[in-house]
Amino acid sequence: MSKKLALITGASRGIGLAIAELFRKNGLEVLAPTRGELDLSSEESVKEFLRKNSHLEIDVLVNNAGINIIENIPQISDENLKAALQINLISPTILIRELSPKMIARGYGKIVNISSIWSQVSKPGRAVYSSTKSAINGLTRAAAVELAPHNILVNAVAPGFVDTDLTRKNNTPEQLKVIESNIPARRLAQKSEIAELVYFLASEKNTYITGQTIFIDGGFSCQ
Ligand SMILES: NC(=O)c1ccc[n+]([C@@H]2O[C@H](COP(=O)([O-])OP(=O)(O)OC[C@H]3O[C@@H](n4cnc5c(N)ncnc54)[C@H](OP(=O)(O)O)[C@@H]3O)[C@@H](O)[C@H]2O)c1
Repeated sequence: MSKKLALITGASRGIGLAIAELFRKNGLEVLAPTRGELDLSSEESVKEFLRKNSHLEIDVLVNNAGINIIENIPQISDENLKAALQINLISPTILIRELSPKMIARGYGKIVNISSIWSQVSKPGRAVYSSTKSAINGLTRAAAVELAPHNILVNAVAPGFVDTDLTRKNNTPEQLKVIESNIPARRLAQKSEIAELVYFLASEKNTYITGQTIFIDGGFSCQ
């Protein structure tokens, strides 16, 4: 891969950090803003970040940052609903809107949105998360159709249970044991496994896959 510049959101830890490390190892330049530099919950912060970096030629955008606040439907708070929509859907859409014109001008771009198995299947407490992740799959298809004529390929990666802080925060050790026994592969995914798929889709090796949501879940969503 020739030296390309990638913007990865939420790369301070978890899956985003693994993606940033792999991209760097494979020779990409990586822009990995901290939340202080790019707070996706704030329209102002997104605007300011884009303004400050408007001179950069970003070839690859990975919309990775996301939040998953678990609330059953009667308990969904307006505040959490708005925050999840802002961080998981609105800000990623704005980043695509603002970064794609330069990609169009150069005739090159790769966009990978991090979705989730909960975009396809669900369970109690995931109404807001499932909604935002289903929306990301829709955004991926729509952006792919519109941007493919400009050689910009847009895909989503939908992980199952990945061994991250988010997974450990949302599940007790006992729950994790049950989860593992319900995954056909009988284990959680490693962050590096997700990163490899994101890298392939974002690399010059991907020349024709676009608009897809690729599930990487050890077979969980096939049951
Ligand atoms: N873990 C899983 O099993 C799993 C499964 C399916 C899908 N996913 C998806 O994969 C992505 C990454 O998940 P993860 O498990 O790696 O999450 P994580 O360990 O909780 O890390 C989340 C990342 O997003 C950043 N972030 C959160 N709110 C932000 C905001 N308002 N502005 C900017 N950055 C913000 C965090 O930054 P700070 O360090 O500043 O908090 C952190 O870098 C998410 O989209 C998630 O929905 C995860």
